Amino acid sequence: MSSPAILVENVTVHYGEVLALDSASLTVDAARICGLIGMNGSGKSTLFKVIMGMIKPDAGRVLIGGQSPTRARKEGGIGYVPQSEDVDWQFPLSVRDVVMMGRYGHQGFTRRPSKADRAAVDLALDRVELGEYAERQIGQLSGGQKKRAFVARGIAQGATMMLLDEPFAGVDKRSEATITRLLRELASDGCTILISTHDLHALPNLCDEAVLLMRRVLMHGAPELVLQPENLAMAFGLDVLNRDLPVPPHPAVTAAVVHPAAAGASAIIESRG
Ligand SMILES: Nc1ncnc2c1ncn2[C@@H]1O[C@H](COP(=O)(O)OP(=O)(O)O)[C@@H](O)[C@H]1O
Ligand SMILES: [Mg+2]
Repeated sequence: MSSPAILVENVTVHYGEVLALDSASLTVDAARICGLIGMNGSGKSTLFKVIMGMIKPDAGRVLIGGQSPTRARKEGGIGYVPQSEDVDWQFPLSVRDVVMMGRYGHQGFTRRPSKADRAAVDLALDRVELGEYAERQIGQLSGGQKKRAFVARGIAQGATMMLLDEPFAGVDKRSEATITRLLRELASDGCTILISTHDLHALPNLCDEAVLLMRRVLMHGAPELVLQPENLAMAFGLDVLNRDLPVPPHPAVTAAVVHPAAAGASAIIESRG
């Protein structure tokens, strides 16, 4: 039997005293779109970083298509769309530069882009409908355009797995529709997709399966099942039951969890090993 695309087994992660993941286990098969939901602070971003190999778990193991995350990343297999808070938007990079990062693994030491690299970047920019913004500084794009630029980086990279950390947060409808369509296309080409979102309404349309996270995986199944009020209550608290579901999490739940951005500030230049 072939290895699952993503295997997370009993993974525990601490930041100092804070327990971010507590023996979390998750298996995702190839070409599936898996939605990750959980309140702020439930460990979603940490789970992405562990899968990327950016954070080493204190216990447990992660395998990507049967190999280590570091190896999978070096081979260019993993595309990553970081959450906005984890990116330094002042970084002096154009949209084209960001997408070209996806080609680093295809270039030699000089990192001089070949004709093929440039063609792949142009194609990816077209696919996310950002061709006309190629020369803009990345920080000058709208929220949705920024997300699309990172999706383009993954496409240019030829990633067989895409990890998207809240790609719909603060995003306009056009970008949301474009990203949803692209993810569907990528999955039908065999790409495995893990995506965190607070948009519970969009979940059944977007995802083949859903995961409820609260430091550990509380539930993993069909979106309709995971979205049952009593199941959401496990992850978001009982307040969620007083609402017309599915709903975005209760305001008390969405209140930002503030933590040092330091760990992720360089995510923009860290997607490759
Ligand atoms: N770099 C960090 N330093 C200290 N604590 C952190 C750091 N990153 C995350 N945390 C803490 O770990 C927990 C999980 O955070 P995170 O994975 O960002 O959750 P989510 O993405 O679901 O909001 C939270 O309590 C958060 O405050
Ligand atoms: Mg997060």
